[in-house]
Amino acid sequence: MARNWTPDSWQGFEAKHLPKYEEASLLAEAEQKLSNYPPLVFAGEARALKADLADVAAGHAFLLQGGDCAESFAEFHPNNIRDTFRVLLQMAVVMTFASKRPVVKVGRMAGQFAKPRSSDTETQGEMTLPSYFGDIINGIDFDPEQRVNDPQRMIRAYSQAAATLNLLRAFAGGGYANLRQVHQWTLDFMGRSPWADKFSQMADRIGEALDFMEACGIDPATVPQLQGTSFYTSHEALLLPYEQALTRQDSLTGDWYDTSAHMVWIGDRTRFEGSAHIEYCRGIGNPLGMKCGPSMEPDALLRLLDTLNPAREAGRITLISRFGHDKVEAGLPALVRAVKREGHPVVWSCDPMHGNVIKSDSGYKTRPFDRILSEVKGFFAVHRAEGTHAGGIHIEMTGQDVTECVGGAIGIADEALGDRYHTHCDPRLNAAQSLELAFLLAEMLNMEAQERQADAA
Ligand code: PEP
Ligand code: CO
Repeated sequence: MARNWTPDSWQGFEAKHLPKYEEASLLAEAEQKLSNYPPLVFAGEARALKADLADVAAGHAFLLQGGDCAESFAEFHPNNIRDTFRVLLQMAVVMTFASKRPVVKVGRMAGQFAKPRSSDTETQGEMTLPSYFGDIINGIDFDPEQRVNDPQRMIRAYSQAAATLNLLRAFAGGGYANLRQVHQWTLDFMGRSPWADKFSQMADRIGEALDFMEACGIDPATVPQLQGTSFYTSHEALLLPYEQALTRQDSLTGDWYDTSAHMVWIGDRTRFEGSAHIEYCRGIGNPLGMKCGPSMEPDALLRLLDTLNPAREAGRITLISRFGHDKVEAGLPALVRAVKREGHPVVWSCDPMHGNVIKSDSGYKTRPFDRILSEVKGFFAVHRAEGTHAGGIHIEMTGQDVTECVGGAIGIADEALGDRYHTHCDPRLNAAQSLELAFLLAEMLNMEAQERQADAA
């Protein structure tokens, strides 16, 4: 257990991006309520994810983490949950087949509500209001009443997270995630993709593998693993009063866990040394992510790793690099080398979203698909050169047919962004773009697998 740590010890540290609540008594009331609510996940599940991530760190698996930039109360609907889950499963099947390795699936779901913002205020015309900080804190409408921070929103977010997680568990274990079915959905998508020929070759091979397995008596009816899958949840541990209220001591080990999600991560703006967010996270037993952007220095990173993972437990830390397509190849190697030199067992994951935001000519915040892909390629190239495992991908995506990121094979044009631009924060890949990315990732993973085989021969 971490020394000199309590679930509230973060309160003595510098906290950035935390909301101020006008009425302390209302905040205390909400915290009290939450602290009496059931945990959303069990410590044992967080440990199972940590074990899966230890396999990723060792180079034996790949991490797929994805979901909304910000979940919202307005988009809360079973179909949205189902569609995002489905696309993540499709991506995982394509990537598992290519890499010949398991894919660990983690949703940015069931708790991804709070957002750090670059500016505390937003001005429209003559009016300046506090920024929108996510539905767990205030409302998105540009209206003075909506923009007031309301602790009661934490209760609603908890309920939504609980219902979302419940449905995800049902999908993952109740037969919806049947491997045959997931493959069939992907075949349906092929017909609509301009890259159908290229992708359908791989899809055919996956189909053949399934046929072969079935002929050997290995099918979802006989092998329960093919009927279901493991699916975990995660979000940025930004709103510490909420995380603290859901921090519980595990009855089996006596260790503390943040039971709001299996995995939580520390954002690029709150991962500085001495931050309240680092202090909170060092004491919980969950697997942790940490974003690493261009301002991360190798020495600072090593000190942070010593703070967060003094025992050097594999699977504990996932470093999520988010440099930008034009900076990753220059910036990432120094971090990779330092971590490798010190022997920290981390998962390296690539967030190709947050360093690639631009304002389009039409005025929308967008991310060009080719820049996203280019950052992923750069990330793989760095790990190949350094002899380390390109271990994962972290993306903002949705199962809906939105128009938020430009490009991709379906070719979303700048002028089309306004058609279905629904995000509550950053632009997300839509279903087709996500699947396209999975096929392109599959090519890189396949190359890695072939090199591995050649090395072994
Ligand atoms: C995010 O992942 O939503 C986010 C805000 O990213 P970052 O901390 O890397 O900017
Ligand atoms: Co985002």
